[in-house]
Amino acid sequence: MTPNSAAPATTTAPTTGQAAARPSAADGHTWWREAVTYQICPRSWADGDGDGVGDLPGITAHLPYLRELGVDAVWLSPFYVSPQADAGYDVADYRDVDPVFGTLADADALIERAHGLGLKVIVDMVPNHSSDEHVWFQAALAAAPGSPQRARYLFRDGKGADGSLPPNNWISVFGGIAWTRVTEADGRPGQWYLHLFDRKQPDFDWSNPEVRAEFESVLRFWLDRGADGFRVDVAHGLVKDPALPDWDHRLEMLGDADADADPDADADADASEPEDRPHAPMFDQDGVHEIYEQWRRILNSYGAPDRILCAEAWVEPPVRAARYVRETEMHQAFNFDFLDARWDGPRLRTAITDSLAATGSVGAPTTWVLSNHDVVRHASRFGLEQDHRRPNGIGAKDRQPDRLVGLRRARAATALMLALPGAAYLYQGEELGLPDSTDMPDAFRQDPAFHRTGGGELGRDGCRVPMPWAKDAPAFGFGSTGGTWLPQPPIYGDYAVDQQEGVAGSTLELYRTLLAIRRQHRLGAGTFTWLEDYAGHPAYDEVVGFVTTGGDGARVGVVSNLGAEPVALPTGGRVLVASGDLTTEGRLPTDTTAWVLLTG
Ligand code: GLC
Repeated sequence: MTPNSAAPATTTAPTTGQAAARPSAADGHTWWREAVTYQICPRSWADGDGDGVGDLPGITAHLPYLRELGVDAVWLSPFYVSPQADAGYDVADYRDVDPVFGTLADADALIERAHGLGLKVIVDMVPNHSSDEHVWFQAALAAAPGSPQRARYLFRDGKGADGSLPPNNWISVFGGIAWTRVTEADGRPGQWYLHLFDRKQPDFDWSNPEVRAEFESVLRFWLDRGADGFRVDVAHGLVKDPALPDWDHRLEMLGDADADADPDADADADASEPEDRPHAPMFDQDGVHEIYEQWRRILNSYGAPDRILCAEAWVEPPVRAARYVRETEMHQAFNFDFLDARWDGPRLRTAITDSLAATGSVGAPTTWVLSNHDVVRHASRFGLEQDHRRPNGIGAKDRQPDRLVGLRRARAATALMLALPGAAYLYQGEELGLPDSTDMPDAFRQDPAFHRTGGGELGRDGCRVPMPWAKDAPAFGFGSTGGTWLPQPPIYGDYAVDQQEGVAGSTLELYRTLLAIRRQHRLGAGTFTWLEDYAGHPAYDEVVGFVTTGGDGARVGVVSNLGAEPVALPTGGRVLVASGDLTTEGRLPTDTTAWVLLTG
């Protein structure tokens, strides 16, 4: 079967050729400028040993699926030794694989197999904090205040006569105070340590040269094993204002809760809001940049093809995020402005314009992303009323997303995203149109955000449910025994890979077709111009339309219709692919995107 053997009726499938022959963005020196990267959470993708938790051998066995999907690279969320207090983002040993995921030899085998298939491998680097079970933190607990062991983390004396008050008023991203008090060797309550996330994730002190040297060595460890780059966790958080001053605002994943608490203010206020508030003393400090300049030098020393750094930096507005991708620093940064845009024409246009301008100002490619392991999947998000901010999880008591509307919009949004110039990130299962689990019983929830907020935030478990591969197999084909670390909703069977492969109009075949055409015309290397027919016309406020000239010279018109009425497509073109059927008159219906090869 070829990826395009059953493309939807409105699709013209390009020739993709056999594995060895396909033109690949990943072949070039600067492959990352137009690459599509697929994110895998190792716990949830494929369970090779049947213990209910995904693992590296399971991933390796399924890599050909990604090759056929048509992506260039895979990003693996952390698989290091970890007590899993935050799904592996609490690392106890940066140089080894957690037994639940396999061994270092399994990691080597995965990288080798991926490279054999023409796929790059990006690993997750978590430098802001370690696990409290890391040997350094254990040594810090055993050592005295003021010792070199404590100086690798942010230990401080408490306030008040007996030091029983935390050193400042910072609140953890996951809720609750961002400090935990330790018991000293003599049994008395002692100093406090900072953790911007869970108490099991103590923050490193990056002003300590020992911390810097350690991470440079860890980078080399994985580069030497063949990793093609790193996704850098909380890249904006490493350096804190040394005074650790009080800060009266709330921190939230991917942004700042205060920034868009007022849904009406959101669309227009993005550029100005950050200046209206004092700069967060724990995030986006100027000192982080010299760390990445040093990391870039290390990666550059490995020569061609480029090994890359991609920043997870919750930084607003996009021009601040662009500072992370200056020529001497990282290669990419996630575009959370785009992810945060609702299904709203003006908001999406603004996000696209601002993102292209910001990264363009430093010569970096823009990245595009709609889903990841920290947010409600876009197939569910877009099925909610679009007048509220993005929820952190959806539960049985919440208003449920409209699955059909959500899927229709998700397909249209992905078709829009994959035509935009630059690099793109996909999250496991979105190629199946997978919704979140939206009625998971609380007893299963593992996200520390759920527990630290007393259930006030449901957290991210709903988007981390194990992947369905085969409808009639145990655990929908995730593993051989039927065990899954989070329960799979029964409806996941209908989304399974084997229900979509080769099925005309399925979401999986749509993704394969989009990726194949994107590759054929090298749309990631394309130019960008708003389509005059729609731009600025009030009647077309809910239409997002642009023309891109791909790296192969093809001119492609891309139109997304978010409005209620069907709209005309550019004339004189041939529809290459559409995210849903056109009307009988050939118009583009609501919540649909089409790519049109322009010949005129
Ligand atoms: C990043 C990760 C998230 C994790 C947090 C703390 O935001 O994406 O999953 O919980 O960092 O490491």
